[in-house]
Amino acid sequence: MPDTLTKLAYQTFQQGKQYFGITHKTLSNNLMKTFQPPKNVETQEVDLKTLQRLQQRMAALLEQDWQDAEAGVYPKQLLFDNPWDDFLRFYPLVWLDLPKIWQRATDRNHHSFAKDIDTSGYPQYYLQNFHHQTDGYLSDLSAHLYDLQVEILFNGNADPMRRRILPSLKAGVTGVEKAKILDVACGTGRTLSMIRAMLPKASLYGVDLSPAYLRKANETLSAQPGVLPQLIQANGEALPFVDDYFDAVVSVFLFHELPAAARQNVIDQAFRVIKPGGTLVLCDSIQRVDSPEFEVMMDNFPAMFHEPYYRHYTTDDLNSRLITAGFEEVTNQVHFMSKYWVAQKPAIA
Ligand SMILES: C[S@@+](CC[C@H](N)C(=O)[O-])C[C@H]1O[C@@H](n2cnc3c(N)ncnc32)[C@H](O)[C@@H]1O
Repeated sequence: MPDTLTKLAYQTFQQGKQYFGITHKTLSNNLMKTFQPPKNVETQEVDLKTLQRLQQRMAALLEQDWQDAEAGVYPKQLLFDNPWDDFLRFYPLVWLDLPKIWQRATDRNHHSFAKDIDTSGYPQYYLQNFHHQTDGYLSDLSAHLYDLQVEILFNGNADPMRRRILPSLKAGVTGVEKAKILDVACGTGRTLSMIRAMLPKASLYGVDLSPAYLRKANETLSAQPGVLPQLIQANGEALPFVDDYFDAVVSVFLFHELPAAARQNVIDQAFRVIKPGGTLVLCDSIQRVDSPEFEVMMDNFPAMFHEPYYRHYTTDDLNSRLITAGFEEVTNQVHFMSKYWVAQKPAIA
């Protein structure tokens, strides 16, 4: 397909996902207001100017995504990757799950797990229904619905947001023949799948606390061509790897779900397992310091979804945490609703 056509196809694809996300949220909000009106949820109206700024950030994100794919940083087919099978199998369940979500939100019940789920051995901060998710991160149903729910939340931009880590990651491992790369809190494996498409020779590893999400990651990744990443159930605060092992470590959408001390622990562990001269790339929500124009959204998010550590996260100085751990050359980028940290472990002199 000529490039202008491919670009048009990509823009149309993203537009479709955006309309789908907006429509889903409008319908589900109206249903919620009718059947289970939220109590004690104080959100602020988002004004037109903020919405326009958001739209501009989104357009810039997609343009950058396209430019990087066109420049060959990652394959263009990644732009069109979508879990269609999951969509067909599980989208109806997203709707069926909504009444349970509304009920838990109304009851402020944030620690609800099915009886057969073994909750022993997890850190206390983890045993919650983040974003009112049924069973938190600890059931197969939760793992099946997660990617669909995140795409809806971000109006189809979750994958373009994840892909923003790829250029810095690729630059960080350039010249390494068979780079070893770890994804901390790999969830259902979407980031690992992207990295595998960009760096087919790399040895990939993923850790996550959720056995269900790792099962889902294994199911998805093993159905695709390429060497299967090694997936291990582990806490990012205690990585089960020797020192100086990885050429790069990445983590996407983890830090806003951690208490402050755990954020530092994960960064310290990443520093420990990265080789001297290696690279860390983080992606998470925007923060107040560099996105004050989106404060209203940063206030609304934890009011609408159960995100107990988000408010603190939005003010947390991760640059200082990275430097405390020993990283240097810390740089930041801000894109649509997302912020990025790239840091280097000093090379041995
Ligand atoms: C918001 S999801 C992000 C998942 C994935 N990285 C993505 O891009 O969608 C947060 C993930 O972090 C995992 N998680 C939370 N705390 C963790 C910890 N201390 N160690 C390892 N994984 C953790 C959860 O199980 C979940 O899969």
